[in-house]
Amino acid sequence: MQLGVNLDHVATLRQARRGLEPDPVWAAVEAQLGGADAITLHLREDRRHVQDHDLGRIAATSQVRLNLEMAATEAMLEIALRTRPHMATLVPEGRAEITTEGGLNVVGDMGLLKQVVARLREGGITVSAFIDAEIEQVDAAAEAGFDMCELHTGPYAHAFHEAGGDLPRGTMKKQLERLAAAGRRITQLGMLFNAGHALNYVNIGPVLALANLRELHIGHSIVSRALFVGLRQAVAEMKRLLAQAPPAPWAASARA
Ligand code: PXP
Repeated sequence: MQLGVNLDHVATLRQARRGLEPDPVWAAVEAQLGGADAITLHLREDRRHVQDHDLGRIAATSQVRLNLEMAATEAMLEIALRTRPHMATLVPEGRAEITTEGGLNVVGDMGLLKQVVARLREGGITVSAFIDAEIEQVDAAAEAGFDMCELHTGPYAHAFHEAGGDLPRGTMKKQLERLAAAGRRITQLGMLFNAGHALNYVNIGPVLALANLRELHIGHSIVSRALFVGLRQAVAEMKRLLAQAPPAPWAASARA
């Protein structure tokens, strides 16, 4: 199970003073020393946290995969094709939202997304769709040509919190079943299965049991913990939790 560490909130803190620190480039180094498999940055249209120079400097220095979260706009497409991250995750972007609030509407935006995915893939960039755990959206993502889907774990995280982590209470079990069903569909259709949003050190356990899950993208909880233990340790602690995930079926057959 791989870990992509989202560093947007390091830039949020820096932008509070429009200064130099904390520098997301230093954070990317620390995250890599803690074991991050990928660094994620969301370059928002309003540039509220990550700036263009952060993306450029991290693209030039990161030794692990760079995942650029972006809206499907012409301006972002140009930046992505110039920067050439290893992967791009297309997300919906609302100006008033505090963070990404829902998944892409691939069904509704098929025409635009097909074009954007094709141009990114022609540029050698692997493309991921950030979607809600809905079968129609998974099917549409396959039709649009995405290589992988990242399922939105926000509703699950909310249900976990409401239920106090007690599976039979509230909608937690239902949310996990939605993720499991959508995850199965993603792999059946030949795409890779990633997940993320609002995951933390407490609610991650049940998610790790989802079959064929390949990569988690986590930001806020890791950066928050880093205030107390440092980023390298915060990433290493999350990596240790991920290492407890049940082995993937292909690993078992490879050992046999
Ligand atoms: N995945 C996507 C697509 C996101 O937009 C975000 C938030 O920027 C994350 C994962 C990480 O979410 P969190 O910061 O809640 O861990």
